[in-house]
Amino acid sequence: MAAQASRLSIFISRSLPPEAVARARSRADVDFNDVDAPLPRAELLRRLHGRQGLVCVITDAIDEELLAACPELKVAANVAVGFNNIDVAAATRRGVVITNTPDVLTETTADFAWSLLMAAARRVVEADRYVRDGRFTQWENMLLHGGDIHGKTLGIVGFGRIGRAMARRAQGFGMRVLYQDAVAADAATERELRAARADLATLLRESDFVTIHTPLLPETRHLINAEALQRMKKTAYLVNAARGPVVDEAALVQALAEGWIAGAGLDVFEDEPTVHPGLVGLSNVVLAPHIGSASADTRLRMANLAVDNCLAVLEGKAPLTPVNPEVLTRK
Ligand code: DGY
Repeated sequence: MAAQASRLSIFISRSLPPEAVARARSRADVDFNDVDAPLPRAELLRRLHGRQGLVCVITDAIDEELLAACPELKVAANVAVGFNNIDVAAATRRGVVITNTPDVLTETTADFAWSLLMAAARRVVEADRYVRDGRFTQWENMLLHGGDIHGKTLGIVGFGRIGRAMARRAQGFGMRVLYQDAVAADAATERELRAARADLATLLRESDFVTIHTPLLPETRHLINAEALQRMKKTAYLVNAARGPVVDEAALVQALAEGWIAGAGLDVFEDEPTVHPGLVGLSNVVLAPHIGSASADTRLRMANLAVDNCLAVLEGKAPLTPVNPEVLTRK
């Protein structure tokens, strides 16, 4: 038993909660980057070389070059639900299992997207700054007016797990919900979430809040471009807690600066960690450093799930949340 465990060999590319590292160490030989910053590419390749398992994060490019340099790799377990950092087709060709961390982060990410929505509409960050700057010298009737949320229309772009969690939250605010997705939800889900499917143009035209929850795919890159932003109401808000490149950031800067829309809340950016300089100077946008799933409990659940996925593959068992399950049946 112990002899078999010692043969399993994992590299963890980024600092994770210590409990998750210990979980991996209890069943495998583990090397890990204990710094919360990306490793230089050459170091990542060097330290991964010869290992069978990788626990990685969204800033690691798992591409043809890495897969070719590490032919013993059997599994790359991403500590994220999104996996646009991974060339899944190349991994599948090479028989490398890819896993992600769905479900465990759904509610936490929706909580944060909802916080951005509320912060942008009710100008929470501007209000905080106003008080800190010592400008709150008297109550004012006309101060920091924002947009109402209750009773308005929420447009959800991408009606997967997180999009649906947003729809559930909208019910508590008495909102009408529209959603756009390539696949229609079943009638029971639409009824339960009081959500109606719409095409993107209708959703943009009718929504007071547009919130993005679609994965980054070739067809969703710059889905929200200048034309889309011009279709939105001048009083509407855009929220993006999915992937930055779904929004054309330069067009969004223009939309916010010129009043095409009222405001935005962004947790993700086109070229992270770079933020378009035009956004930084605008007061009608709330900015966050990609922390949608960053509650302590959820980040631990994500790390544990990734470790469990990695160990399962190395121990010859089925991973819990594979992205390319066809690799498993081929073996
Ligand atoms: C995800 O899970 O895809 C997040 O963006 C990373 O936390």
